[in-house]
Amino acid sequence: MKYFIELMKNCVETVLVFTAFFPFFPCPFELPRSKELIHDAILDNDFMKNLELSQIQEIVDCMYPVDYGEDACIIKEGDVGSLVYVMEEGKVEVTKEEMKLCTMGPGRVFGELAILYNCTRTATVRTLTHVKLWAIDRQCFQTIMMRTGLIKHAEYMDFLKSVPTFKNLTEETLNKLSDVMEETHYDDGEFIIRQGAMGDTFFIISKGMVNVTQEDPASHEPVLLREMTRGDWFGERALQGEDVRTANVVAVDSVTCLVIDRDSFKHLIGGLEDVSNKGYEDAELKAKYEAENAFFSSLKLTDFNIIDTLGVGGFGRVELVQLKNEDAKTFAMKILKKRHIVDTRQQEHIRSEKHIMTDAHCDFIVRLYRTFKDSKYLYMLMEACLGGELWTILRDRGSFDDSTTRFYTGCVVEAFAYLHAKGIIYRDLKPETSSWTAYHKLKVDFGFAKKIGYCKKTWTFCGTPEYVAPEIILNKGHDVSADYWSLGILMYELLTGSPPFTGLDPMKTYNVILRGIDMIEFPKKVTKNAANLIKKLCRDNPIERLGNLKNGVKDIQKHKWFEGFNWEGLKKGTLTPPISPNVSSATDTSNFDSFPEDTDEPPPDDNSGWDYDF
Ligand SMILES: *[C@@H]1O[C@H](CO)[C@@H](O)[C@H](O)[C@H]1NC(C)=O
Ligand SMILES: *[C@@H]1O[C@H](CO)[C@@H](O)[C@H](O)[C@H]1NC(C)=O
Ligand SMILES: *[C@@H]1O[C@H](CO)[C@@H](O)[C@H](O)[C@H]1NC(C)=O
Ligand SMILES: *[C@@H]1O[C@H](CO)[C@@H](O)[C@H](O)[C@H]1NC(C)=O
Repeated sequence: MKYFIELMKNCVETVLVFTAFFPFFPCPFELPRSKELIHDAILDNDFMKNLELSQIQEIVDCMYPVDYGEDACIIKEGDVGSLVYVMEEGKVEVTKEEMKLCTMGPGRVFGELAILYNCTRTATVRTLTHVKLWAIDRQCFQTIMMRTGLIKHAEYMDFLKSVPTFKNLTEETLNKLSDVMEETHYDDGEFIIRQGAMGDTFFIISKGMVNVTQEDPASHEPVLLREMTRGDWFGERALQGEDVRTANVVAVDSVTCLVIDRDSFKHLIGGLEDVSNKGYEDAELKAKYEAENAFFSSLKLTDFNIIDTLGVGGFGRVELVQLKNEDAKTFAMKILKKRHIVDTRQQEHIRSEKHIMTDAHCDFIVRLYRTFKDSKYLYMLMEACLGGELWTILRDRGSFDDSTTRFYTGCVVEAFAYLHAKGIIYRDLKPETSSWTAYHKLKVDFGFAKKIGYCKKTWTFCGTPEYVAPEIILNKGHDVSADYWSLGILMYELLTGSPPFTGLDPMKTYNVILRGIDMIEFPKKVTKNAANLIKKLCRDNPIERLGNLKNGVKDIQKHKWFEGFNWEGLKKGTLTPPISPNVSSATDTSNFDSFPEDTDEPPPDDNSGWDYDF
């Protein structure tokens, strides 16, 4: 219970900070009736109802009261928000761009997008009467989500380590197992397993006690063999393929078990050894990389001419540049405004992008040759992919047929196989900016990739709303399987022209995502096999996603939809691409939109030293 105490301390501190702002609050230890109302309101909310009961309980406990008088503004459209509210009493009006949307009364939750990440409010909420609210802020919410996830994970790990059957398993396998285990509750007298019945499930008792009984052959009466308690397990033979139960297990009082079924177990055990995608880097290649490195280290910024602009964004721009003394050698130079990086707190992202890209030698990932910096900008000298962005081609064509989509999906699968084998999750898959077509290959570019190591999880909320996996929305921590989710989304978007989960605003999109892929009606043009693969990639439970099972990406490569696809040809570059971008020379930028001059000169930012390894 150590965690819980720390957690409470955290939340109490938040309460104190806020009571200091609003000195007229009633005591934060509210009446049970209010708690019940908050609880019900949360269960009634499309997003919050997806949280686990224990998490909802902690959120309810951490909420503090806020009062507003009549005609006061609670949330203002466009402001940065960090609080979510539950209304206990009163009435409010919701408007967007001065237009009235609705009024809301007691028992409603609002402002919930703000607890997911730092964002601006999408509507204005004003009071019509005096209102009584309960609030919780993002930091407190995320601490609860993360802690409860971590506590549970640690508990499960402890259990698994205490089971002799699992003694020889690696830490990584145990990590995966503890993700796949499900908690199940039983009431007094309930049969957990019944003698003679078929079963394929293994149980570990996490709370309570059970009676193990066996039928006496003579009297047919059950005879008590033994009692079992917390930490004991049963049904392990089912994991080895024996189906018939040899005893009864009956719950005494209320019992909680962690449960794994044989299929999940088989998919996980033995699967993790074959991370054998390391054939990419042999000695010969190493020599080549060293020579390349030596060449680029000798260059200076002044050795390049700018030819044209390939892309523009808030971060800066991408220019096509050419070596002054070697016209045919062109590169994409990403020029990032340091001021903007600091303002948006992206220093870590940028450094991580640099390290990952510099180390990535894969035909399906854009090469980063070297970086430069001066007082205003960071420069990343990259391979020029003059075929243009996948997004531009998709926009022009509306959607792709099966074989075109297969080719591009195959390229992304190869890039993922390479990255995941190095313990990197990509996290930013989408047809815009991140994926570029080179002469005949699709390459992925970076932004949000993060090195997490094998079987570890990360908790940063990021990605494009339409491509975000449910575990990211629910703050459960995520790993490489989030990439396979987004691969399913990409496939769907390439085949149909728009992603499967969309909403008028990010929160609506998230709620549609949480409802799951099975609620989506696939257009007729998506073939059965394609739909089957998409659904297998977009499973709610990350552990069940194709690509994340025992055989890794091989399961995707062997899927029916890829039947007959020339994976070898794709890797070697001999496979004819379905779309051949027209690139006439090393300086041809006709596959890119044209961009205006960037007249916004950023102020210098070079005194903090965060850019030391650029
Ligand atoms: C949230 O974003 C705003 C503007 O983008 C920024 O000013 C603010 O510091 C951010 N807050 C946090 C906690 O990151
Ligand atoms: C664990 O490995 C050892 C040595 O390899 C072996 O003797 C033992 O039977 C294994 N234990 C289990 C539970 O599989
Ligand atoms: C469990 O076994 C004990 C001892 O025989 C017995 O008193 C109790 O009723 C049993 N409980 C259940 C639910 O079978
Ligand atoms: C390339 O040019 C040819 C001939 O002008 C045209 O038929 C083809 O569609 C072009 N390819 C692309 C990807 O635009």
